[in-house]
Amino acid sequence: MLDAGVGTGRNFAFYPPAAIVSGIDISPAMLARAHDRCPTLAAAGRLYAMDVTALKFADGTFDAAASSFLFCVLPSPLQVPALRELGRVVKPGGVIRLLEYVRPQGTLRRLLSYVWQPWIAWAYGASFDRHTERHVPASGLELVDSRYVVDDLLKVLTLRVPVRAMDARGGR
Ligand SMILES: C[S@@+](CC[C@H](N)C(=O)[O-])C[C@H]1O[C@@H](n2cnc3c(N)ncnc32)[C@H](O)[C@@H]1O
Repeated sequence: MLDAGVGTGRNFAFYPPAAIVSGIDISPAMLARAHDRCPTLAAAGRLYAMDVTALKFADGTFDAAASSFLFCVLPSPLQVPALRELGRVVKPGGVIRLLEYVRPQGTLRRLLSYVWQPWIAWAYGASFDRHTERHVPASGLELVDSRYVVDDLLKVLTLRVPVRAMDARGGR
């Protein structure tokens, strides 16, 4: 599977030991930290410097993909290209899971998110207002599930790469 925007590799502790995971990130500095955190993966050559909007993998390379806090960093015009690229490199029928910050609805948390906004923009280039879920239809992916996992602040989107008739016959 692919971890997109792998950062310093913090997710690797949570993958099953048998999972074969590759990580991509646009930042060499983040990848250097991921190398230190995940020496086995680095030795296997599965950490790549790549832009999620222009992945250098063949179509259908991965069974699944995941990313955490990547889409809340990507500017709005890059949301659809990034979703399309993940959909291209994951096999038809494969699942893509995204963990993202969203703008809270509750009054107090919403207010606090505006106070917090300049800091996350400065520290991570992140925003609560990327509206990744709204971009899913334009990407050609299917929205399977959308659920909050921490209050109304952190959301997991589960997307699926559609199986088209030609894919089902093995013609992709
Ligand atoms: C907020 S960090 C999250 C890192 C990690 N997924 C985590 O949860 O700790 C966002 C990561 O996305 C990477 N990133 C930003 N734009 C990217 C792009 N266009 N392609 C690939 N990675 C990108 C950044 O370099 C950074 O490592």
